[in-house]
Amino acid sequence: MKTQIYTKPNESEILLLGTLLREGQLVAIPTETVYGLGANGLDDKAVKSIYEAKGRPADNPLILHVSGIEDVPTLVKAITPTAQKLMETFWPGPLTITLEKSDTVPMQVTGGLSRVALRCPDNETCRKIIKAAGVPIAAPSANRSGRPSPTTAMAVMDDLDGRIAAIADDGPCRVGIESTVVECGDNEVTILRPGEITEEMLLQVVAEVKWDSAITTGEGRPKAPGMKYRHYAPDGAMATYVGSVDGVATRIWKEYLQQYKHTTPMGMLISHEVYLQLQQKAAESKMELSEDTLHIVDFGTRENLDNLAGALYETLHQFNRYKVTSILAEGTEPRGVGIAVMNRMRKASSNNVFNVNIEGDILENKG
Ligand code: TXA
Ligand code: MG
Repeated sequence: MKTQIYTKPNESEILLLGTLLREGQLVAIPTETVYGLGANGLDDKAVKSIYEAKGRPADNPLILHVSGIEDVPTLVKAITPTAQKLMETFWPGPLTITLEKSDTVPMQVTGGLSRVALRCPDNETCRKIIKAAGVPIAAPSANRSGRPSPTTAMAVMDDLDGRIAAIADDGPCRVGIESTVVECGDNEVTILRPGEITEEMLLQVVAEVKWDSAITTGEGRPKAPGMKYRHYAPDGAMATYVGSVDGVATRIWKEYLQQYKHTTPMGMLISHEVYLQLQQKAAESKMELSEDTLHIVDFGTRENLDNLAGALYETLHQFNRYKVTSILAEGTEPRGVGIAVMNRMRKASSNNVFNVNIEGDILENKG
């Protein structure tokens, strides 16, 4: 199959993409979080082909993407008042809400669960494509199962070229990590997967926000089945260091000196502050940091957590393209969207997340 790329699709191309989807083809769609691998969410055969293209376990349910609140009533038993408030406040946007499903939704979408996950993306092209399709669009992230999610059309091509009919390319995704997933109760919500919509933001609308204890403690079976799988893994081995600028820079420098002779090529995902310190350390030891085999990605200043969310997956894809075998990354503070970023980095690092003190010594394995 030849995968057709539509860059910034015009109105007639949007209609065409909608028709492809309605007729059962797979189309990668842009969203504000990551690219999705879309199929007609009411067509069980089309939904099945998502699992095949991704190599995804069949018990991991899919999110149904809608073009607005008006698409929801036929898909659920009832929209609870809390769900209504959440949709009005955060849609279109990176919040996925689970509700009891109606009989219209095929079991293939929910992996046999009684609830269906719903989301309205904050990307106009995406909503237009869903409207053109005239059906809800089931879409997981458009990567092969277990690999980093794609935030550019090129990253979608890396994983799915030849396996899907088309890609709607709308440029890089704004948020860069997947939506917050919540189970919606009568007066409270439970966070099943952290994302850009944080606990603090949810508390402005609902009285109580709980966390799925399987994510906070790492024990038990997560309510979002996808959270139990190894995920977001780059090809190279990755370690993530959390601490002060001095501590993280010192640790990464030590690791670099130990590894660089043996391990080529290497990748670093670090903030501007850590980058400046590494340059200084290199100058002091009369070394060259920018060798051909070292790929440094400076994600911007560490105060801006959105920077890191936006850079994470594309950086991991880039490291794969460079065939990087060892990755040294700087973690974030677990506040705001930093919680979601650390959730993804922990998985990408296979739990190799280390707290370091100001001297760069490892304090405890936070995995
Ligand atoms: O931002 C996003 O959510 C992206 C874009 C494409 O919309 N989509 C995405 O889909 O990340 P996916 O399939 O990679 O992740 C969906 C997560 C999985 O962890 C899945 O287990 C969970 O949502 N999920 C889906 N339906 C569910 C349900 N009915 N109950 C609990 N968890 C559910
Ligand atoms: Mg995914």
